[in-house]
Amino acid sequence: MIKNPKYKIITYGCQMNKSDSERIEGLLESIGFSGAKDVKDADLILVNTCSVRQTAEDRVYGMMRDYARLKNKKPHLLIGITGCMAGRDKDGVIKKRITTTLNKYGLEGIDLFFGIADLPNIPEEISRLWKDKRFIQAHKKTDYLGITPNPVEWWRGWVVIQTGCSNYCTYCVVPHARGHEVNRPVTEILKEVKKMVASGAKEIILLGQAVNSHPDFAKILQEINKIDGVNRISFASAHPMNMTVGVIKALALSKMVNYLHLPVQSGNNKILQKMNRKYTRLNYLKVIERIRKVRPDIALATDIIVGFPGETKTQFKDTISLYKKCDFDMSYNARYSTRTGTVAHRIYVDDISREEKKRRWEELQKIMERNVARKNKKYLNKVVEVLVDGCKNKKCYGLSREYKRVVFPGDPSMIGDIYRVKVKKAKEWELDGLVVA
Ligand code: SF4
Ligand code: F3S
Repeated sequence: MIKNPKYKIITYGCQMNKSDSERIEGLLESIGFSGAKDVKDADLILVNTCSVRQTAEDRVYGMMRDYARLKNKKPHLLIGITGCMAGRDKDGVIKKRITTTLNKYGLEGIDLFFGIADLPNIPEEISRLWKDKRFIQAHKKTDYLGITPNPVEWWRGWVVIQTGCSNYCTYCVVPHARGHEVNRPVTEILKEVKKMVASGAKEIILLGQAVNSHPDFAKILQEINKIDGVNRISFASAHPMNMTVGVIKALALSKMVNYLHLPVQSGNNKILQKMNRKYTRLNYLKVIERIRKVRPDIALATDIIVGFPGETKTQFKDTISLYKKCDFDMSYNARYSTRTGTVAHRIYVDDISREEKKRRWEELQKIMERNVARKNKKYLNKVVEVLVDGCKNKKCYGLSREYKRVVFPGDPSMIGDIYRVKVKKAKEWELDGLVVA
């Protein structure tokens, strides 16, 4: 029998994965595990994986070698993989490659390999593998979303309102890894929000792959806005097609942050169509116009893919011109990389050279960096409201309502609280300031 079993979770990928890891922690702690500082001290190592790029998956294969060495020294150690790699492995190719790696170290294979929806079965699996009934006995069976998360930051509640995605953008692995879109009932969502607020959460971030396609999305925002104790409401990631009149109107609610992340991916109609994004350049521009009517000073962020199969230089220029028209505050720019299992992988040739993708990416990065610097200057001598995320060497840092990083002198007792900070210096990636009364 293993006394005081310890877990270590390694998390890759997006916010959805981070939120899932909070649920895994919640589950493991409820059945008697506690967190290990280092993988070396763990009895269970779980890697929560991301499939968005091949490099992210390759890193996981590399890690298996290190964990196999650990398991050879500590045979009861359980190694597990969950997240998008496990979720998308319908043909078993990924599991087979991991097994082959582990076989080289004299191990039979991976102990736990499961899509996140199967998380509630894990106590039973651990009991079976360790021949110890404690874990299954301690487990209160519920579905995956019914598990109470163990938040990393008590002041910020990540609330999953939807799992999976049914949009099938041709480049994206998410629908393959996480299945069809399933929306949570409003009452369940509000119950979770209230629970988080009661434990101190001041900011609520709603999560979903196309979060605003939840049929009651505007209503959810309105209801959360009424809850005492909530100071900020935000969401990620929105789909332009679902920015309905009701959702845009809700952006003006008093507790909404002054920030919106709305992935556009390309500024060219032909490419958007090949991506199956279901909107045109004009649709997107109209949405931005409507948003700015409701909230003129909103900070806007986007995602862009350069070098999609067949993207000509002229088509790329459309993305640049759209970028300038929208005057984004921030963008997450990616070079297209093909992913097995997607429609784009099956029907398009990844024909833009690495050099050309790099060149387009750099061009976009430069424009983005110039925009960030120019937009940050706007805040000079202005007072912004900061929710403090951390403190190091007598400096506190956190995000303003526009999701700009702000740094100011302070101490760790300020973490999790909201302060008004006057901006004294606008740097490229942060604003420096001083707390005001
Ligand atoms: Fe992927 Fe498109 Fe769904 Fe986003 S909306 S998760 S890009 S399929
Ligand atoms: Fe990666 Fe899966 Fe998120 S592919 S980006 S972890 S949804």
